[in-house]
Amino acid sequence: MKIIMLGAPGAGKGTQAKMISEKYGLPHVSTGDIFRANIKNGTALGMEAKQYMDKGLLVPDELTVKILLDRVAQDDCKNGYVLDGFPRTIPQAEVLEDALSKLGDKVDYAINVDVPDENIVRRMSGRRACVTCGETYHIEHVPPKTEGICDKCGSALILRDDDKPETVLNRLKIYHEQTQPLIDFYNNEGILKEVDGTIDVKDVFENITKILG
Ligand code: AP5
Ligand code: MG
Repeated sequence: MKIIMLGAPGAGKGTQAKMISEKYGLPHVSTGDIFRANIKNGTALGMEAKQYMDKGLLVPDELTVKILLDRVAQDDCKNGYVLDGFPRTIPQAEVLEDALSKLGDKVDYAINVDVPDENIVRRMSGRRACVTCGETYHIEHVPPKTEGICDKCGSALILRDDDKPETVLNRLKIYHEQTQPLIDFYNNEGILKEVDGTIDVKDVFENITKILG
């Protein structure tokens, strides 16, 4: 099963992708997480990606596409995956479609987690992420057991550099310009599924499992 998570920054793509990954035994592939791991390790890719990410801009397609295709060519992706944060532009979607069709394959579901802009900025300022394992929390909706500490690995929780309100507004603008057109793209392919992302995390997931079976 190959699944794409669509949605605005902060819609809950990562939260739901992780739950799908655990329930269905599929690898969770997030281009944002790959870039952040590279930034943390100080790689050349990380340094380049950071220049765009800190401004709320998209990392150029050439760079992103290569990383994604390398990742899904790995052995653990043989039986499928959940893509979180890719594709984010029509050219990225076309590259993925081409690469899959060469293997006689295709994406099965594109799930759009729908959250209006008004909810996004508030949600992002409450998000906290683990510096070590990347686990995501929310100070109100998904709090850690101990404030500021990751439940999973005990490391410190931080506000992501790109979660400052002014950067979030820019990410939302870029989302509407470049990523939202993918909703029509996958609707035309007949694989678009919409879920309401404003309800409780568990209820969003229940609706997703009704789609995936
Ligand atoms: P990326 O890491 O993908 O960021 P994003 O798309 O902006 O999305 P987020 O991770 O911010 O949000 P999310 O939808 O995963 O929400 P989450 O589950 O955390 O990309 C970062 C940057 O990398 C981009 O800006 C770009 O520069 C670059 N990049 C990445 N991929 C790229 C690509 N393909 N092409 C080019 N550039 C690329 O949830 C958010 C918060 O809300 C959390 O605190 C969570 O606990 C909480 N929450 C979740 N669900 C609910 C709910 N139902 N109710 C209440 N709270 C909830
Ligand atoms: Mg995410």
